[in-house]
Amino acid sequence: MMRDEIVQIDQEALAAQKRFAALVKDHADKPRSYHLVTFGCQMNAHDSETLAGLMEGMGMSQAGTRENADLVLFNTCCIRDNAERKALGNITWLKEIKRERPHMLIGICGCMMQQKGMAETVLRKYPFVDIAFGTGNLYRLPEYLYQVVDEKCRVIDISKEESSIAEGLPILRESPFKAYINIMYGCNNFCSYCIVPYVRGRERSRKAEDILCEAEALVREGVQEITLLGQNVNSYGKAAGEISFPQLLRRLQATGIPRLRFMTSHPKDLSDELIAEYAANTALAPHLHLPVQSGSDRILAAMRRGYGVEDYLDRVKALRQACPDIGLTTDLIVAFPGETESDFEETMQLVARVRYDSAFTFIYSPRAGTQAAGLSGRIDPVTAKARIERLIALQEGISGEILDSLVGQRMGILVEGISARRQSQLSGKCGRSISVNFTGGDERLIGRIVPVNITDRGSNTLRGEY
Ligand code: SAH
Ligand code: SF4
Ligand code: F3S
Repeated sequence: MMRDEIVQIDQEALAAQKRFAALVKDHADKPRSYHLVTFGCQMNAHDSETLAGLMEGMGMSQAGTRENADLVLFNTCCIRDNAERKALGNITWLKEIKRERPHMLIGICGCMMQQKGMAETVLRKYPFVDIAFGTGNLYRLPEYLYQVVDEKCRVIDISKEESSIAEGLPILRESPFKAYINIMYGCNNFCSYCIVPYVRGRERSRKAEDILCEAEALVREGVQEITLLGQNVNSYGKAAGEISFPQLLRRLQATGIPRLRFMTSHPKDLSDELIAEYAANTALAPHLHLPVQSGSDRILAAMRRGYGVEDYLDRVKALRQACPDIGLTTDLIVAFPGETESDFEETMQLVARVRYDSAFTFIYSPRAGTQAAGLSGRIDPVTAKARIERLIALQEGISGEILDSLVGQRMGILVEGISARRQSQLSGKCGRSISVNFTGGDERLIGRIVPVNITDRGSNTLRGEY
């Protein structure tokens, strides 16, 4: 794809949205408060920060609960069937609340709305929904809200602006010291099980200068950790003639950001250059989320992942050579169509060999429109459940051993707040992204990276002393 195929939303269109925002702000019937309910991955979480920024810009403030909000906006996910059911369950439940508070507005946006036929379904089955829009046109929220408020109509707009990038939108970040930055949108990989390329559109990278500008501003504000977001950050810039992802990391280090993370990386695009960056780039946290999905070459091929087990293990070895204390985490899918007992055993073996700090494990969920949805050899739910439980038990044992091995170390912890369990303790994350609760500090440490001696471990966390 060439750069000029990626439509940057032009200044005029963005200025039009600013005018709509001002009209909403001054409108007598505008919603005064909003409540955002976010499902899904970091990409959605970050989109919600933009949606919140837009709503605050229209003079709305966050409501304490969704029951007393004037506008409830659901930012949905459809990666698996249960994500979808959860969102629809929440929306249906709100229908009852709306009966008592008829002026309440309900909106749905996000990945679920980009699915084929979903907009029509919403129109028909959820007549109490006022606004529905997709992932590509979120920047038009002010316009939709204006129509709903002024014309008292419903707005359903799932545009095909899938290959666009809107720059300069307001963002209301959740944390003053940790920030997400999108570096690319969409995905071109079409793994056979995955809905993301259909709902997030084609891969497109932001300009390095826009990313650096955003990072510099965050560093000036005192942000300590930046997480770069994209479905496949390793292929950043490739199609757009931009600098490479490792080069981008180098430039970001130069901004003075103390800690840098990114997700998600695809193993097939994990270059030697990026691995070398783990040795050279002092800002880069010693953690990599590297989803493997399966330990069987046959299943990996059916998933269209573009690598085999040996390729993956080779990358892991190189990473550990470059950065001996790197912590790896992963995603695993069990019960992909046709997965035999021996394929599953190979996944268990791979997990035992790599020794991940932790893993997200999922039972395969067929998604309409994806290639795998048409495959035969579905695994029955009882077998699937038995497999995932064995995998989780194996991973839990490994996670525990890794936590044990970290006891005695002194680590830099980014302090996030007071521990939820014990008020006398602080909690934060180490470079490997493991949660650490520790004694000996006070609130003044919140938002700083401080040295902590690790003395013990909990079930998924470490304990220490400042
Ligand atoms: N872009 C990321 C993953 C995004 S989705 C990557 O390629 O690594 C997050 C995880 O959800 C995937 O890694 C996969 O493990 C899981 N997943 C995606 N589609 C799924 C499906 N249909 N059923 C079960 N798990 C799925
Ligand atoms: Fe989905 Fe594969 Fe793209 Fe990840 S790389 S978002 S799993 S299609
Ligand atoms: Fe879900 Fe969309 Fe993320 S489908 S996992 S919210 S990209």
